[in-house]
Amino acid sequence: MYSIVNEKAAHAREAGSEKAIHAPVGRGDGTGRGHARKQEALVAGEPSWIPPGVDTQRANVARVYDYWLGGSHNFLADQDLGRAIAAVEPNVRAIARANRAFVGRAVRYLAAAGVRQFVDIGSGIPTQGNVHEVAQQAVAGARVTYVDTDPVAIAHSKAILAGNENATIIDADLRDPEKILGHPAAQRLIDFGQPVGLLIVAILHFISAAEDPWRLVATLRDAIAPGSYLVLSHATNESKPTVAQAAEKVYNSSVATHVQLRSRAEIRRFFDGFDLIDPGLVYIPLWRPDSSADVPSDPTQFWGLVGAGRKA
Ligand SMILES: C[S@@+](CC[C@H](N)C(=O)[O-])C[C@H]1O[C@@H](n2cnc3c(N)ncnc32)[C@H](O)[C@@H]1O
Repeated sequence: MYSIVNEKAAHAREAGSEKAIHAPVGRGDGTGRGHARKQEALVAGEPSWIPPGVDTQRANVARVYDYWLGGSHNFLADQDLGRAIAAVEPNVRAIARANRAFVGRAVRYLAAAGVRQFVDIGSGIPTQGNVHEVAQQAVAGARVTYVDTDPVAIAHSKAILAGNENATIIDADLRDPEKILGHPAAQRLIDFGQPVGLLIVAILHFISAAEDPWRLVATLRDAIAPGSYLVLSHATNESKPTVAQAAEKVYNSSVATHVQLRSRAEIRRFFDGFDLIDPGLVYIPLWRPDSSADVPSDPTQFWGLVGAGRKA
């Protein structure tokens, strides 16, 4: 059973023997014994925060992203894939961090615009600057419903949200928006008759065209009140098509949930029914940077397009 006690124990172990789960693969004394020892340590001391049924041998989107962000809820398979993609796109960790920073800026913007409740779909494994922390720091009592399908993200979110009356996580799939909207936990915290901050950040590229992600977003849009906002980021093949497609190929060879790069026009369509606020749909660092010093010389190297739109 997952618990905050397990969480603390896991962190304590991370300072010790279970460092093996973060250790680089393939380094050691050249005999291969180092790697074997790490594998052994992993098996011998599997962290107790792993929810039942999680396949630690196979990379997974939530945990690879956690690895890029420098988090501790990932395994060798996730680290291997994370490094393989970094070999193709050395900027990938910076892109992940920039995406996370965008989430914080967007939530602060929405809070300043009067939004008091947030639904964060594909919220991921909690990290620094989680939506409820940013929102509740901006506005005491801001309410947040997280949504994810990943067991590690769900378990870790439950642990950190224990005792927080105004934030919860539900196990639901973006491909089933009706379940999200009707879920009792979402209904308890979110008044869909009032403006909502709907965050769909770095997840739509995991939904194939055949599953019609535009219809899914439109279903959510139709259920939220005027004055609500859609906040979105999406990997694009616009600026670095060769690198992005190579990374896509490496990714899709290892994870069950395939990634799908899209063009600016395809990403723009998610905002149908929303008025894009300034500066529109832009490369990640260009969206309302806190300081001009935060904008890199070539923002197109951060090949995700982000934006926020207001429902009229
Ligand atoms: C790259 S992470 C993004 C996390 C966070 N939104 C951010 O941008 O920092 C993508 C998350 O979406 C989740 N996810 C992927 N497909 C999903 C789906 N169909 N429904 C709900 N969550 C999904 C994954 O489990 C993962 O936690």
